[in-house]
Formats: sequence, C-alpha cells, structure tokens
Amino acid sequence: MKICRTIAECRAEVATYRKAQQRVGLVPTMGFLHEGHLALVAAAKDATDRVVVTIFVNPTQFGEASDLDAYPRDEARDFEMLRAAGVDCILVPPVEEVYPEGDETIVETTRMANMLHGLVRPGHFRGVTTVVARLFNFVQPDVACFGEKDYQQLRVIKRMTRDLAFPIDVRGVPTVREPDGLAMSSRNVRLTPEDRQAALVLSRSLAAAETAGKAGATIEEIRDLIASTITAEPRATLRGLDIVEADDLSEISGPLTSPAAIMLSAEFGGVLLLDQRVVSP
Ligand code: PAJ
Repeated sequence: MKICRTIAECRAEVATYRKAQQRVGLVPTMGFLHEGHLALVAAAKDATDRVVVTIFVNPTQFGEASDLDAYPRDEARDFEMLRAAGVDCILVPPVEEVYPEGDETIVETTRMANMLHGLVRPGHFRGVTTVVARLFNFVQPDVACFGEKDYQQLRVIKRMTRDLAFPIDVRGVPTVREPDGLAMSSRNVRLTPEDRQAALVLSRSLAAAETAGKAGATIEEIRDLIASTITAEPRATLRGLDIVEADDLSEISGPLTSPAAIMLSAEFGGVLLLDQRVVSP
C-alpha cells in the first residue's frame, strides 16, 4: 500500500495503474475510520481494479475552528484498517497543496447547498464541493464512492459532477448499521448506554415510514408518523425532519409517486445523530 504525502506522488502512483489499463476508484474521507468507510472501500474495490483513499480533514467545511480542532484523528489506526481492507494507495495531502496560497476558487451547487442541512451549517456544502472537486482532479478516478448516510452530501456531489462534466461515476453506498439498526458514526461512542438504546428510535421510525409509504400513506402522514414516534421517546429531541424528492431534494407533498428521501436528525443527551432512508411508493 502506497502512502502519498503530496499530490505529485499520488499522481505518479495512479499513472502506473493507468499504464496497466487499470480502472481507479476513489474514496474521500476525513479519517478516523469505521465500518461505514470500509463499506465504501469494498464498493470501490468491486467496481474498479485499484482503490485510492484520501484522508483530509477539510477546514473549509467546518463552521468553527474549535470544531475543526476537535475532529478526532488516528492516522496509524486508519492506515492499518485500510491496509487490511486491501487499499492500494492513500493520499494524505498537506493543507497548503489542497488550498494553495492566494487560492480564490470555490465550487458551489447554488440551490442544493443552501437548503436543509445547509441552512443549519452555512458554507458547509460549499466547502465539501470545493474540496471534492479538487480531490477528483488530484486523483482523476473512474469511480468515486460516497455514503448514503450523508444523503444531501451525496446528492450535492452527484449534481456537481454532472454540472462540471467530471468523467466520474459517483456511486452511493447504503448506510452501514450496527446489528440493532443504529447507523454507524464516529459520534456513537459519545452516547450513554440509555441514549444509545433510545437512539434506535431513528431507524425504527424510518422503517415504519417505509412500511406506511408502501401501504399508500401521503408525505404528510409519513411526516406525522415519524414526528410522533420520535416525540414519544423522552430522551430524543427532534432537530430535523425533511421528506424531499430523492434526486434533486425538492419539496414534495401528497401521495408518494416517486422515490422520496427522508432526512432525520435528533439529539440524544447533547449528541446529534443523523439517519436517512429512501422510500419508494
Ligand atoms: P467522512 O465523514 O469521513 O465520511 C467519508 C465517507 O464515509 C462519506 O461518503 C460518508 O457518507 C461515508 N460514511 C460515513 N458513515 C457511514 C456509514 N455508516 N455507512 C456508509 N457510509 C458512511 O463525508 C466526509 O468525510 C467529507 O465531507 C468528505 C466527503 C470526505 C469531504 O471532505
């Protein structure tokens, strides 16, 4: 497994894959990896011959410097996990190469970045698209994998890729869950055992919503069902509940006629958790 600390090293490595006519998959991450990240690696391995993983804690997508500083890091452990997963190349680019001095170029999906979670975290998705566009250009992969768990991020990146005509197949990978249904996240370790148990209300309410949607419930009925299920759990504080068109995240109402994305966030003892599910009629 090749570990690259500069863009030039990574480009030279990828050039050897290209010379051998091999297809290249990319998995962008911010490190501190878990099984969810490894599912993206597995999907990239399935789709291509060589897998490159980037580890970069991207400053432009964080609102506050303190949040950026607090982001967990464990490079040695990440490298071991990626080696065991059969990754070919890791790029850990220095911040000065990702954002060179005098840098003034941004990439933004103007509508999709500034709705839903983008309203709660202004500038967040602009930071994501700006860094992902650069990572795409550094590695120039054939396929890039992102988690459905961060559903708005996945849709924003798909839209950017289409609009800028990057010749990259962006693939969404289903959310990896704990055996009891809790979506995997580095934040889960901060939950008390009681809140950890209570947090199952997220996946449970989404499963109930799916059943209701298949049985003909309207968007409004599905919204009420989820809201009342979450409110019935005293340890949960509902923060966000959006049901939108699954492709472009636009508003929908009435009967479910095409796939809808349910995006859910709730706090448990001060820990904000996200979950999501795409429901088809
Ligand atoms: P990060 O939070 O490290 O996540 C990297 C990738 O792992 C994302 O595509 C995310 O959706 C996916 N992921 C996280 N938890 C998952 C789970 N339980 N199941 C499946 N996939 C999961 O998301 C980012 O980094 C950054 O915004 C990035 C895209 C790297 C740009 O900086």
